[in-house]
Amino acid sequence: MKPIQVGLLGFGTVGAGVAKVLVRNAEEIGRRAGRAIEVKRVGVRNIDKARTAAPSGTELSFGDDMRAVVDDPEVDIVCELIGGTELAKELVLRAIANRKHVVTANKALLAIHGNEIFAAAQKAGVMVNFEAAVAGGIPIIKALREGLTANRIEWIAGIINGTSNFILSDMRDTGASFADALAQAQKLGYAEADPTFDIEGHDAAHKLTILAAIAFGIPMQFEKAYLEGISTLSRDDIRYAEELGYRIKLLGITKRKPNGIELRVHPTLVPAKRIIANVEGVMNAVVVQGDAVGQTLYSGRGAGAEPTASAVVADLVDVTRLLTADPEHRVPHLAFQPDRLVDLPILPI
Ligand code: HSE
Repeated sequence: MKPIQVGLLGFGTVGAGVAKVLVRNAEEIGRRAGRAIEVKRVGVRNIDKARTAAPSGTELSFGDDMRAVVDDPEVDIVCELIGGTELAKELVLRAIANRKHVVTANKALLAIHGNEIFAAAQKAGVMVNFEAAVAGGIPIIKALREGLTANRIEWIAGIINGTSNFILSDMRDTGASFADALAQAQKLGYAEADPTFDIEGHDAAHKLTILAAIAFGIPMQFEKAYLEGISTLSRDDIRYAEELGYRIKLLGITKRKPNGIELRVHPTLVPAKRIIANVEGVMNAVVVQGDAVGQTLYSGRGAGAEPTASAVVADLVDVTRLLTADPEHRVPHLAFQPDRLVDLPILPI
């Protein structure tokens, strides 16, 4: 059977990781998906990057020509890894209009434009998968939509920004300054293009918005999230917390209340004996409280090339499984279904 052809938009840290994992694990991936998966085209913003970055044998597009990737009739799945919200939104909506399935790691795009994007996908009958958008390599979207689907979710709390967790750990463990720890996280490829998104809580709030939408069936409402970052914390704050038996963690918390949903990101004092208090460095951890299952905990690397690629490629495999089925039996299923939403307000904090 002809391999599934992927059009990759963006070839930074994650794009390179995706290409590498697809090649290295081609045998397992092809066997599990039912068909081989190949990168057919790569589109990047910058021409110099296009020349050096893409794997050999792929077609390159740059600048405005990135649209050619989503218009290519041979591309089955568009994989959006360029980040940002404007160009990404245009390209994703264009891919959907072309009836192509989409895999994206772009949490800002979904938190801000997700309602529109999923409505378009539902109308076009295509999948939009986004496992890599939340908590890097942790399969938390799959856990919520599959493993925990029998539960009424009561709350979710998590460390969902690897950069800020890395900074807090580094300041505590090595006495590094905030600026040095951030520079190191940037060097390791964990931070967003604009690192204020990491340290001021925006990135965690994007991810929390997505988790709340999936868990509670509410629209994506990033603009209503309460957010407070870590940039004003000092080494003394961290030390005093330690002396009192706590660790400071930037947590994203979303909770069902009788009259609505809380959606908040802020530094939190977590008792040092809790597992989540001991999740260090770039690791993320998400705790979910379901009415039937009780508490479950998921942890793993929340950023970086291959952990994020692990989630992107899992999504590519899911779409490939759908495309491998008999066309009459293909039922694209969206984790977020804009025509089945629940009317629960986000509560002011
Ligand atoms: N900047 C993000 C983080 C990358 O540090 O968690 C993964 O979403």
